[in-house]
Amino acid sequence: NPLHPIPHPPKKPFVGNLLSIGSDSPVLDMWKIAQELGGIYWLDMPGMPVIVVSSPELVDELCDEKRFDKSTRGALRRLRAASHGLFTSDTDEPTWSKPHNILLANFSQRAMQAYHPMMLDIAEQLVTKWERLNFDDEVDVTRDMTALTLDTIGLCGFGYRFNSFYREGFHPFVDAMVRTLETVQDRRGLPLEELMMKKQLSQQRKDIRFMHRMVEDIIRERRESGADIAAKPDLLSYMIAGVDKKSGEKLDDKMIRDECIEFLIAGHETTSGLLSFATYFLIKNPHVLAEARAEVDSVLGTDLSARPTYAQVNRLQYIQQVLKEALRLYPTAPAIAKRALEDTVIGGQYTIKKKNMIIMHALALHRDKRVWGEDANEFNPEHFSREAERALPPNAFKPFGNGQRACIGRQFAMQEAVLTLAMVLQRFDLVDHANYQLKVKEALTIKPEGFKIRVKPRDVRH
Ligand code: HEM
Repeated sequence: NPLHPIPHPPKKPFVGNLLSIGSDSPVLDMWKIAQELGGIYWLDMPGMPVIVVSSPELVDELCDEKRFDKSTRGALRRLRAASHGLFTSDTDEPTWSKPHNILLANFSQRAMQAYHPMMLDIAEQLVTKWERLNFDDEVDVTRDMTALTLDTIGLCGFGYRFNSFYREGFHPFVDAMVRTLETVQDRRGLPLEELMMKKQLSQQRKDIRFMHRMVEDIIRERRESGADIAAKPDLLSYMIAGVDKKSGEKLDDKMIRDECIEFLIAGHETTSGLLSFATYFLIKNPHVLAEARAEVDSVLGTDLSARPTYAQVNRLQYIQQVLKEALRLYPTAPAIAKRALEDTVIGGQYTIKKKNMIIMHALALHRDKRVWGEDANEFNPEHFSREAERALPPNAFKPFGNGQRACIGRQFAMQEAVLTLAMVLQRFDLVDHANYQLKVKEALTIKPEGFKIRVKPRDVRH
Protein backbone atom coordinates (compact mmCIF):
# COMPACT_ATOMS: atom_id res chain seq x y z
CA ASN A 1 0.00 0.00 0.00
CA PRO A 2 2.18 2.86 -1.25
CA LEU A 3 -0.17 5.49 0.16
CA HIS A 4 -0.26 3.92 3.64
CA PRO A 5 -2.08 4.61 5.97
CA ILE A 6 -4.83 5.69 3.50
CA PRO A 7 -7.18 2.67 3.17
CA HIS A 8 -7.81 1.14 -0.25
CA PRO A 9 -10.03 -1.60 -1.70
CA PRO A 10 -8.45 -4.81 -3.06
CA LYS A 11 -7.07 -4.39 -6.59
CA LYS A 12 -6.51 -6.69 -9.55
CA PRO A 13 -3.27 -7.25 -11.49
CA PHE A 14 -2.74 -4.85 -14.45
CA VAL A 15 -6.03 -2.98 -14.07
CA GLY A 16 -5.74 -2.06 -10.38
CA ASN A 17 -9.09 -0.71 -9.20
CA LEU A 18 -10.38 0.19 -12.66
CA LEU A 19 -13.10 -2.47 -12.37
CA SER A 20 -14.18 -1.32 -8.88
CA ILE A 21 -15.58 1.77 -10.58
CA GLY A 22 -18.12 1.26 -13.38
CA SER A 23 -17.85 3.64 -16.32
CA ASP A 24 -21.59 4.34 -16.15
CA SER A 25 -21.77 4.80 -12.37
CA PRO A 26 -18.42 6.09 -11.05
CA VAL A 27 -19.88 8.45 -8.45
CA LEU A 28 -22.28 5.93 -6.92
CA ASP A 29 -19.57 3.25 -6.92
CA MET A 30 -17.17 5.60 -5.12
CA TRP A 31 -19.90 6.36 -2.58
CA LYS A 32 -20.41 2.62 -1.96
CA ILE A 33 -16.69 2.17 -1.28
CA ALA A 34 -16.75 5.19 1.08
CA GLN A 35 -19.50 3.47 3.07
CA GLU A 36 -17.16 0.48 3.50
CA LEU A 37 -13.77 2.15 3.91
CA GLY A 38 -14.65 5.57 5.38
CA GLY A 39 -14.07 9.25 4.63
CA ILE A 40 -10.75 8.79 2.81
CA TYR A 41 -9.43 5.98 0.60
CA TRP A 42 -7.44 5.64 -2.58
CA LEU A 43 -7.97 3.85 -5.86
CA ASP A 44 -5.33 2.52 -8.20
CA MET A 45 -6.45 4.01 -11.52
CA PRO A 46 -4.58 3.94 -14.87
CA GLY A 47 -1.73 6.41 -14.79
CA MET A 48 -2.23 7.61 -11.23
CA PRO A 49 -3.68 6.89 -7.82
CA VAL A 50 -6.89 8.76 -7.04
CA ILE A 51 -7.65 9.74 -3.44
CA VAL A 52 -11.37 9.97 -2.63
CA VAL A 53 -12.24 12.23 0.31
CA SER A 54 -15.68 12.65 1.90
CA SER A 55 -15.38 13.06 5.69
CA PRO A 56 -16.41 16.56 6.81
CA GLU A 57 -13.15 17.14 8.72
CA LEU A 58 -10.95 16.23 5.75
CA VAL A 59 -13.12 18.09 3.21
CA ASP A 60 -12.81 21.15 5.45
CA GLU A 61 -9.02 20.91 5.05
CA LEU A 62 -9.36 20.52 1.25
CA CYS A 63 -11.34 23.77 1.21
CA ASP A 64 -8.31 25.70 2.51
CA GLU A 65 -7.33 27.58 -0.66
CA LYS A 66 -3.82 28.25 0.65
CA ARG A 67 -3.16 24.51 0.52
CA PHE A 68 -5.47 23.13 -2.19
CA ASP A 69 -6.76 24.26 -5.58
CA LYS A 70 -9.04 22.92 -8.28
CA SER A 71 -7.47 20.26 -10.50
CA THR A 72 -8.31 20.09 -14.20
CA ARG A 73 -6.63 16.74 -14.79
CA GLY A 74 -8.74 14.17 -16.64
CA ALA A 75 -12.18 15.05 -17.99
CA LEU A 76 -11.85 18.84 -17.73
CA ARG A 77 -8.53 18.84 -19.58
CA ARG A 78 -10.09 16.76 -22.36
CA LEU A 79 -13.05 19.14 -22.56
CA ARG A 80 -10.73 21.99 -23.53
CA ALA A 81 -10.89 20.82 -27.15
CA ALA A 82 -14.49 22.09 -27.07
CA SER A 83 -14.01 25.10 -24.83
CA HIS A 84 -11.18 26.46 -22.74
CA GLY A 85 -12.78 28.93 -20.35
CA LEU A 86 -13.64 29.51 -16.69
CA PHE A 87 -14.73 25.97 -15.96
CA THR A 88 -11.88 24.05 -17.63
CA SER A 89 -8.95 26.41 -16.88
CA ASP A 90 -6.35 26.27 -14.14
CA THR A 91 -6.53 29.12 -11.66
CA ASP A 92 -3.26 30.67 -12.87
CA GLU A 93 -4.40 30.89 -16.52
CA PRO A 94 -5.73 34.15 -18.03
CA THR A 95 -8.60 32.06 -19.43
CA TRP A 96 -9.76 31.78 -15.80
CA SER A 97 -8.87 35.15 -14.27
CA LYS A 98 -10.06 37.45 -17.10
CA PRO A 99 -13.58 36.09 -17.56
CA HIS A 100 -13.85 35.58 -13.79
CA ASN A 101 -13.07 39.25 -13.09
CA ILE A 102 -15.37 40.47 -15.84
CA LEU A 103 -18.31 38.16 -15.13
CA LEU A 104 -18.45 37.97 -11.33
CA ALA A 105 -20.68 41.04 -10.94
CA ASN A 106 -23.01 39.82 -13.69
CA PHE A 107 -23.73 36.68 -11.66
CA SER A 108 -24.27 38.45 -8.32
CA GLN A 109 -27.58 38.28 -6.50
CA ARG A 110 -28.26 41.89 -7.57
CA ALA A 111 -27.69 41.07 -11.21
CA MET A 112 -30.38 38.39 -11.18
CA GLN A 113 -33.14 40.94 -11.56
CA ALA A 114 -32.09 41.56 -15.17
CA TYR A 115 -32.54 37.86 -16.05
CA HIS A 116 -35.92 37.48 -14.33
CA PRO A 117 -38.08 38.40 -17.38
CA MET A 118 -36.15 35.95 -19.57
CA MET A 119 -36.34 33.18 -16.95
CA LEU A 120 -40.07 33.82 -16.68
CA ASP A 121 -40.46 33.67 -20.47
CA ILE A 122 -39.07 30.13 -20.51
CA ALA A 123 -40.81 28.95 -17.32
CA GLU A 124 -44.10 30.04 -18.88
CA GLN A 125 -43.34 27.86 -21.90
CA LEU A 126 -42.95 24.87 -19.59
CA VAL A 127 -46.22 25.42 -17.72
CA THR A 128 -48.06 26.25 -20.95
CA LYS A 129 -46.94 22.92 -22.39
CA TRP A 130 -48.08 21.09 -19.25
CA GLU A 131 -51.42 22.91 -19.18
CA ARG A 132 -52.25 21.60 -22.63
CA LEU A 133 -51.63 17.93 -21.93
CA ASN A 134 -54.45 15.41 -21.76
CA PHE A 135 -55.23 13.61 -18.49
CA ASP A 136 -53.56 10.44 -19.79
CA ASP A 137 -50.39 12.09 -21.19
CA GLU A 138 -47.08 11.48 -19.43
CA VAL A 139 -44.49 14.11 -18.61
CA ASP A 140 -40.83 13.11 -18.89
CA VAL A 141 -39.70 15.37 -16.05
CA THR A 142 -35.96 15.30 -16.71
CA ARG A 143 -36.49 15.93 -20.42
CA ASP A 144 -38.71 18.95 -19.85
CA MET A 145 -36.48 20.37 -17.12
CA THR A 146 -33.51 20.04 -19.48
CA ALA A 147 -35.48 21.88 -22.15
CA LEU A 148 -36.15 24.63 -19.61
CA THR A 149 -32.56 25.04 -18.37
CA LEU A 150 -31.07 24.94 -21.85
CA ASP A 151 -33.47 27.51 -23.18
CA THR A 152 -32.91 29.71 -20.13
CA ILE A 153 -29.13 29.78 -20.52
CA GLY A 154 -29.44 30.24 -24.28
CA LEU A 155 -31.64 33.29 -23.77
CA CYS A 156 -29.93 34.84 -20.70
CA GLY A 157 -26.48 33.85 -21.95
CA PHE A 158 -26.51 35.03 -25.54
CA GLY A 159 -30.01 35.91 -26.66
CA TYR A 160 -30.52 32.67 -28.56
CA ARG A 161 -33.70 30.62 -28.43
CA PHE A 162 -33.08 26.88 -28.62
CA ASN A 163 -36.90 26.53 -28.65
CA SER A 164 -36.71 23.12 -27.01
CA PHE A 165 -40.44 23.15 -26.22
CA TYR A 166 -41.23 23.38 -29.92
CA ARG A 167 -39.23 20.32 -30.98
CA GLU A 168 -39.51 16.58 -30.64
CA GLY A 169 -35.81 16.19 -29.84
CA PHE A 170 -33.28 18.91 -28.99
CA HIS A 171 -31.53 21.57 -31.09
CA PRO A 172 -28.57 20.07 -33.05
CA PHE A 173 -26.19 22.14 -30.88
CA VAL A 174 -27.38 20.21 -27.84
CA ASP A 175 -26.92 16.83 -29.51
CA ALA A 176 -23.36 17.84 -30.41
CA MET A 177 -22.67 18.99 -26.85
CA VAL A 178 -24.13 15.87 -25.22
CA ARG A 179 -22.13 13.56 -27.53
CA THR A 180 -18.97 15.51 -26.73
CA LEU A 181 -19.57 15.15 -22.98
CA GLU A 182 -20.25 11.42 -23.34
CA THR A 183 -17.04 10.87 -25.26
CA VAL A 184 -15.10 12.80 -22.63
CA GLN A 185 -16.57 10.62 -19.87
CA ASP A 186 -15.97 7.37 -21.82
CA ARG A 187 -12.24 8.05 -22.12
CA ARG A 188 -10.23 6.62 -19.28
CA GLY A 189 -6.64 7.20 -20.36
CA LEU A 190 -6.05 3.56 -21.36
CA PRO A 191 -3.44 2.49 -23.91
CA LEU A 192 -4.79 2.17 -27.49
CA GLU A 193 -7.85 4.18 -26.51
CA GLU A 194 -7.42 6.66 -29.38
CA LEU A 195 -7.38 3.77 -31.82
CA MET A 196 -10.36 2.00 -30.27
CA MET A 197 -12.42 5.17 -30.11
CA LYS A 198 -11.46 6.38 -33.57
CA LYS A 199 -15.02 6.78 -34.84
CA GLN A 200 -16.24 8.49 -31.68
CA LEU A 201 -13.29 10.88 -31.70
CA SER A 202 -13.82 11.79 -35.33
CA GLN A 203 -17.49 12.52 -34.53
CA GLN A 204 -16.31 14.64 -31.61
CA ARG A 205 -14.14 16.79 -33.90
CA LYS A 206 -17.12 17.36 -36.17
CA ASP A 207 -19.36 18.21 -33.22
CA ILE A 208 -16.86 20.71 -31.82
CA ARG A 209 -16.49 22.43 -35.20
CA PHE A 210 -20.26 22.71 -35.40
CA MET A 211 -20.60 24.21 -31.89
CA HIS A 212 -17.78 26.67 -32.53
CA ARG A 213 -19.24 27.91 -35.82
CA MET A 214 -22.69 28.36 -34.38
CA VAL A 215 -21.57 30.42 -31.39
CA GLU A 216 -19.13 32.42 -33.56
CA ASP A 217 -22.07 33.32 -35.83
CA ILE A 218 -24.11 34.45 -32.82
CA ILE A 219 -21.27 36.71 -31.63
CA ARG A 220 -20.74 38.15 -35.12
CA GLU A 221 -24.43 38.85 -35.50
CA ARG A 222 -24.48 40.63 -32.13
CA ARG A 223 -21.49 42.80 -32.99
CA GLU A 224 -22.97 43.71 -36.36
CA SER A 225 -26.35 44.57 -34.83
CA GLY A 226 -24.67 47.13 -32.60
CA ALA A 227 -27.04 46.17 -29.73
CA ASP A 228 -25.71 47.29 -26.35
CA ILE A 229 -26.41 46.16 -22.78
CA ALA A 230 -29.56 48.25 -22.55
CA ALA A 231 -30.98 46.63 -25.70
CA LYS A 232 -29.85 43.09 -24.82
CA PRO A 233 -29.11 42.68 -21.11
CA ASP A 234 -27.55 39.22 -21.43
CA LEU A 235 -24.17 37.72 -20.60
CA LEU A 236 -22.93 38.12 -24.17
CA SER A 237 -23.42 41.90 -24.00
CA TYR A 238 -21.58 42.01 -20.66
CA MET A 239 -18.70 39.99 -22.10
CA ILE A 240 -18.41 42.19 -25.20
CA ALA A 241 -18.41 45.39 -23.11
CA GLY A 242 -16.51 44.21 -20.01
CA VAL A 243 -12.92 45.16 -19.14
CA ASP A 244 -10.81 43.12 -16.71
CA LYS A 245 -9.69 45.77 -14.19
CA LYS A 246 -6.54 43.82 -13.29
CA SER A 247 -5.13 43.44 -16.81
CA GLY A 248 -7.02 46.34 -18.42
CA GLU A 249 -7.97 43.95 -21.22
CA LYS A 250 -11.23 42.86 -22.80
CA LEU A 251 -12.21 39.32 -23.78
CA ASP A 252 -11.43 38.34 -27.36
CA ASP A 253 -14.04 36.56 -29.48
CA LYS A 254 -12.52 33.12 -28.91
CA MET A 255 -12.75 33.58 -25.14
CA ILE A 256 -16.33 34.81 -25.43
CA ARG A 257 -17.21 31.82 -27.60
CA ASP A 258 -15.70 29.38 -25.11
CA GLU A 259 -17.52 31.02 -22.18
CA CYS A 260 -20.87 30.70 -23.99
CA ILE A 261 -20.23 26.99 -24.52
CA GLU A 262 -19.14 26.52 -20.91
CA PHE A 263 -22.23 28.16 -19.46
CA LEU A 264 -24.21 25.50 -21.27
CA ILE A 265 -21.91 22.64 -20.31
CA ALA A 266 -21.66 23.67 -16.64
CA GLY A 267 -25.15 25.03 -16.18
CA HIS A 268 -27.84 23.13 -18.01
CA GLU A 269 -27.70 19.52 -16.77
CA THR A 270 -26.81 20.51 -13.22
CA THR A 271 -29.83 22.78 -12.92
CA SER A 272 -32.22 20.40 -14.72
CA GLY A 273 -31.01 17.55 -12.49
CA LEU A 274 -31.72 19.71 -9.45
CA LEU A 275 -35.27 20.47 -10.61
CA SER A 276 -35.89 16.81 -11.44
CA PHE A 277 -34.64 15.50 -8.08
CA ALA A 278 -36.64 18.20 -6.26
CA THR A 279 -39.80 17.16 -8.15
CA TYR A 280 -39.06 13.52 -7.31
CA PHE A 281 -38.68 14.25 -3.60
CA LEU A 282 -41.84 16.38 -3.52
CA ILE A 283 -43.96 13.72 -5.17
CA LYS A 284 -42.68 11.11 -2.70
CA ASN A 285 -43.16 13.39 0.35
CA PRO A 286 -46.73 14.76 0.21
CA HIS A 287 -46.46 16.62 3.55
CA VAL A 288 -43.43 18.57 2.24
CA LEU A 289 -45.25 19.26 -1.02
CA ALA A 290 -48.24 20.59 0.96
CA GLU A 291 -46.03 22.94 2.95
CA ALA A 292 -44.20 24.13 -0.17
CA ARG A 293 -47.46 24.78 -1.93
CA ALA A 294 -48.89 26.67 1.05
CA GLU A 295 -45.88 28.99 0.85
CA VAL A 296 -46.35 29.46 -2.90
CA ASP A 297 -50.04 30.24 -2.46
CA SER A 298 -49.34 32.79 0.25
CA VAL A 299 -46.50 34.53 -1.64
CA LEU A 300 -47.65 34.28 -5.27
CA GLY A 301 -51.38 33.95 -4.67
CA THR A 302 -53.67 31.78 -6.76
CA ASP A 303 -54.41 34.26 -9.54
CA LEU A 304 -52.64 32.53 -12.39
CA SER A 305 -52.78 35.56 -14.65
CA ALA A 306 -50.48 37.52 -12.28
CA ARG A 307 -46.89 36.88 -13.33
CA PRO A 308 -44.49 36.18 -10.44
CA THR A 309 -42.20 39.12 -9.70
CA TYR A 310 -38.51 39.02 -8.88
CA ALA A 311 -39.24 40.20 -5.31
CA GLN A 312 -41.80 37.43 -4.78
CA VAL A 313 -39.38 34.75 -5.95
CA ASN A 314 -36.89 35.92 -3.34
CA ARG A 315 -39.45 35.51 -0.57
CA LEU A 316 -39.91 31.77 -1.21
CA GLN A 317 -37.78 30.60 1.70
CA TYR A 318 -39.23 27.08 2.04
CA ILE A 319 -38.88 26.39 -1.71
CA GLN A 320 -35.21 27.33 -1.31
CA GLN A 321 -34.96 24.81 1.54
CA VAL A 322 -36.53 22.11 -0.63
CA LEU A 323 -33.99 22.78 -3.39
CA LYS A 324 -31.04 22.81 -1.01
CA GLU A 325 -32.19 19.55 0.53
CA ALA A 326 -32.40 17.98 -2.95
CA LEU A 327 -28.86 19.25 -3.64
CA ARG A 328 -27.70 17.77 -0.34
CA LEU A 329 -28.93 14.23 -1.10
CA TYR A 330 -28.12 14.37 -4.82
CA PRO A 331 -25.67 17.18 -5.55
CA THR A 332 -25.92 17.23 -9.32
CA ALA A 333 -22.21 17.99 -9.71
CA PRO A 334 -21.49 15.19 -7.26
CA ALA A 335 -17.70 15.04 -7.22
CA ILE A 336 -14.96 17.54 -8.10
CA ALA A 337 -11.19 17.27 -8.48
CA LYS A 338 -8.65 18.97 -6.21
CA ARG A 339 -4.87 19.07 -5.95
CA ALA A 340 -2.41 19.99 -3.22
CA LEU A 341 -0.27 23.08 -3.94
CA GLU A 342 2.61 21.45 -2.00
CA ASP A 343 3.11 17.98 -0.50
CA THR A 344 1.10 18.05 2.71
CA VAL A 345 -0.57 15.98 5.44
CA ILE A 346 -4.32 15.96 6.17
CA GLY A 347 -6.13 14.54 9.17
CA GLY A 348 -2.77 14.61 10.98
CA GLN A 349 -1.68 11.37 9.26
CA TYR A 350 -2.49 11.12 5.53
CA THR A 351 0.26 12.31 3.22
CA ILE A 352 -1.00 13.97 0.03
CA LYS A 353 1.55 14.60 -2.70
CA LYS A 354 1.37 17.48 -5.17
CA LYS A 355 1.01 15.01 -8.03
CA ASN A 356 -1.94 13.16 -6.45
CA MET A 357 -5.41 13.53 -7.85
CA ILE A 358 -7.99 14.11 -5.11
CA ILE A 359 -11.73 13.64 -5.59
CA MET A 360 -13.88 15.67 -3.22
CA HIS A 361 -17.04 13.57 -3.05
CA ALA A 362 -19.90 15.89 -2.15
CA LEU A 363 -22.62 13.24 -2.32
CA ALA A 364 -20.90 11.08 0.33
CA LEU A 365 -19.97 14.19 2.36
CA HIS A 366 -23.62 15.25 2.49
CA ARG A 367 -24.73 11.97 4.09
CA ASP A 368 -22.66 12.18 7.28
CA LYS A 369 -24.88 11.34 10.26
CA ARG A 370 -22.68 13.28 12.69
CA VAL A 371 -23.53 16.46 10.75
CA TRP A 372 -27.11 15.85 9.54
CA GLY A 373 -28.39 13.54 12.26
CA GLU A 374 -29.87 10.04 12.13
CA ASP A 375 -32.13 11.03 9.22
CA ALA A 376 -29.13 12.00 7.05
CA ASN A 377 -30.34 9.76 4.21
CA GLU A 378 -33.89 11.07 4.30
CA PHE A 379 -35.41 14.05 2.54
CA ASN A 380 -36.21 16.66 5.16
CA PRO A 381 -36.04 20.38 4.24
CA GLU A 382 -35.78 21.19 7.97
CA HIS A 383 -32.10 20.33 7.52
CA PHE A 384 -31.98 23.85 6.01
CA SER A 385 -34.18 25.78 8.39
CA ARG A 386 -32.45 29.08 9.27
CA GLU A 387 -31.27 27.75 12.66
CA ALA A 388 -30.15 24.36 11.31
CA GLU A 389 -28.21 26.00 8.49
CA ARG A 390 -26.48 28.41 10.86
CA ALA A 391 -25.41 25.50 13.07
CA LEU A 392 -23.70 23.56 10.24
CA PRO A 393 -19.94 23.09 10.56
CA PRO A 394 -17.89 24.97 7.93
CA ASN A 395 -17.80 23.34 4.48
CA ALA A 396 -20.29 20.59 5.37
CA PHE A 397 -22.51 21.49 2.38
CA LYS A 398 -20.61 21.86 -0.91
CA PRO A 399 -22.91 21.39 -3.92
CA PHE A 400 -21.38 24.39 -5.68
CA GLY A 401 -17.69 23.68 -5.15
CA ASN A 402 -15.28 25.81 -3.19
CA GLY A 403 -13.83 29.29 -2.77
CA GLN A 404 -12.82 31.31 -5.79
CA ARG A 405 -13.40 28.25 -8.00
CA ALA A 406 -16.94 27.74 -6.75
CA CYS A 407 -19.84 27.88 -9.18
CA ILE A 408 -20.22 31.35 -10.68
CA GLY A 409 -23.80 30.43 -11.70
CA ARG A 410 -25.16 29.40 -8.29
CA GLN A 411 -27.49 32.38 -7.77
CA PHE A 412 -28.59 32.06 -11.37
CA ALA A 413 -29.41 28.37 -10.92
CA MET A 414 -31.25 28.93 -7.63
CA GLN A 415 -33.24 31.87 -8.99
CA GLU A 416 -34.33 29.85 -12.01
CA ALA A 417 -35.10 26.72 -9.96
CA VAL A 418 -37.16 28.58 -7.30
CA LEU A 419 -39.19 30.37 -9.98
CA THR A 420 -39.87 27.19 -11.93
CA LEU A 421 -40.76 24.98 -8.98
CA ALA A 422 -43.06 27.68 -7.57
CA MET A 423 -44.91 28.07 -10.88
CA VAL A 424 -45.32 24.31 -11.18
CA LEU A 425 -46.70 23.95 -7.63
CA GLN A 426 -48.96 26.94 -8.11
CA ARG A 427 -50.57 25.40 -11.17
CA PHE A 428 -50.42 21.60 -11.01
CA ASP A 429 -51.13 18.53 -8.96
CA LEU A 430 -48.32 16.05 -9.56
CA VAL A 431 -49.38 12.43 -9.99
CA ASP A 432 -46.97 9.54 -9.44
CA HIS A 433 -49.09 7.24 -11.62
CA ALA A 434 -46.30 4.71 -12.28
CA ASN A 435 -44.96 4.66 -8.71
CA TYR A 436 -41.53 5.73 -9.97
CA GLN A 437 -38.51 4.09 -8.35
CA LEU A 438 -35.44 6.31 -8.36
CA LYS A 439 -32.70 5.31 -10.78
CA VAL A 440 -29.75 7.69 -11.01
CA LYS A 441 -28.07 8.27 -14.35
CA GLU A 442 -24.52 9.57 -14.40
CA ALA A 443 -22.86 11.57 -17.17
CA LEU A 444 -20.37 13.79 -15.28
CA THR A 445 -23.57 15.11 -13.63
CA ILE A 446 -26.36 13.01 -12.09
CA LYS A 447 -30.11 12.98 -12.78
CA PRO A 448 -33.13 10.72 -12.30
CA GLU A 449 -33.55 8.35 -15.24
CA GLY A 450 -36.93 7.55 -16.79
CA PHE A 451 -38.82 9.75 -14.32
CA LYS A 452 -42.38 10.04 -15.71
CA ILE A 453 -45.31 11.66 -13.97
CA ARG A 454 -48.73 13.04 -14.84
CA VAL A 455 -49.77 16.59 -14.15
CA LYS A 456 -53.29 17.83 -13.48
CA PRO A 457 -54.15 21.53 -13.57
CA ARG A 458 -55.03 22.43 -10.00
CA ASP A 459 -58.50 23.43 -9.03
CA VAL A 460 -57.93 26.92 -7.62
CA ARG A 461 -61.54 28.11 -7.57
CA HIS A 462 -62.29 29.71 -4.24
C1 HEM B 1 -18.46 25.65 -11.47
C2 HEM B 1 -22.15 23.15 -9.57
C3 HEM B 1 -25.27 25.79 -12.24
C4 HEM B 1 -21.55 27.90 -14.49
C5 HEM B 1 -19.19 24.77 -10.71
C6 HEM B 1 -18.65 23.87 -9.72
C7 HEM B 1 -19.68 23.16 -9.20
C8 HEM B 1 -20.89 23.63 -9.84
C9 HEM B 1 -19.60 22.06 -8.14
C10 HEM B 1 -17.16 23.70 -9.38
C11 HEM B 1 -16.54 22.76 -10.38
C12 HEM B 1 -15.12 22.34 -10.07
O1 HEM B 1 -14.60 22.66 -9.00
O2 HEM B 1 -14.53 21.67 -10.92
C13 HEM B 1 -23.31 23.65 -10.14
C14 HEM B 1 -24.65 23.21 -9.79
C15 HEM B 1 -25.53 23.96 -10.53
C16 HEM B 1 -24.74 24.86 -11.35
C17 HEM B 1 -24.96 22.10 -8.79
C18 HEM B 1 -27.02 23.93 -10.56
C19 HEM B 1 -27.79 23.44 -9.63
C20 HEM B 1 -24.54 26.61 -13.06
C21 HEM B 1 -25.10 27.57 -14.01
C22 HEM B 1 -24.04 28.15 -14.65
C23 HEM B 1 -22.82 27.56 -14.10
C24 HEM B 1 -26.58 27.83 -14.21
C25 HEM B 1 -24.01 29.21 -15.72
C26 HEM B 1 -24.98 29.97 -16.06
C27 HEM B 1 -20.40 27.46 -13.87
C28 HEM B 1 -19.06 27.89 -14.25
C29 HEM B 1 -18.17 27.26 -13.37
C30 HEM B 1 -18.98 26.44 -12.47
C31 HEM B 1 -18.71 28.85 -15.38
C32 HEM B 1 -16.65 27.43 -13.31
C33 HEM B 1 -16.36 28.56 -12.34
C34 HEM B 1 -14.89 28.82 -12.08
O3 HEM B 1 -14.11 27.89 -12.05
O4 HEM B 1 -14.55 29.99 -11.87
N1 HEM B 1 -20.57 24.60 -10.75
N2 HEM B 1 -23.41 24.63 -11.09
N3 HEM B 1 -23.17 26.65 -13.14
N4 HEM B 1 -20.31 26.59 -12.80
FE1 HEM B 1 -21.88 25.71 -11.87
